[in-house]
Amino acid sequence: MRYGWVLGAIILVGGSSACAESGNADLSATQFGSAVFGTATLTDTPKGLRVVVQVAHVPPGTHGLHIHQYGSCGNEGKAAGGHYNPSGVKHGFLPRDGFRGAHAGDLGNIEVGADGTGTLDLTLKDLRLGGGKYSVGGRAIILHEKVDDFSQPLGNAGGRIGCGPIVITGE
Ligand code: CU
Ligand code: ZN
Repeated sequence: MRYGWVLGAIILVGGSSACAESGNADLSATQFGSAVFGTATLTDTPKGLRVVVQVAHVPPGTHGLHIHQYGSCGNEGKAAGGHYNPSGVKHGFLPRDGFRGAHAGDLGNIEVGADGTGTLDLTLKDLRLGGGKYSVGGRAIILHEKVDDFSQPLGNAGGRIGCGPIVITGE
């Protein structure tokens, strides 16, 4: 009897860790008259959460890109709240600094070329769309006016020019 229960628990745990969710975020301009837009696709993979972001009609240069706390883009993106920071740590660059040295939403920067487009492709270890300690479904991706220079407290990236709520779309 007890053996059967343990076996069942193992199967359940194995099943949930193998389930990969996918989602997306449609980024749009936070300011009237701006044509900024973009798309993000998010996929849980065995190596972590893969985030692919493509933007267009963005001023050329380097722009900070983060996951912010709330999935709301009102009030010129301010409704999304601060950087997603469940561990209460300092600002940084998640792929470099990990969860102890960076907010869980610190995706760094996206490079935008002369044609106004840019792409970022990151896989973030231990970040997930749903479940686990660091889950990003229902939050928002924010594109900033300026470069994230990784200074404290928030990287000095200026205003929020694009925003998109992260929606879980399927498995
Ligand atoms: Cu931000
Ligand atoms: Zn941050």
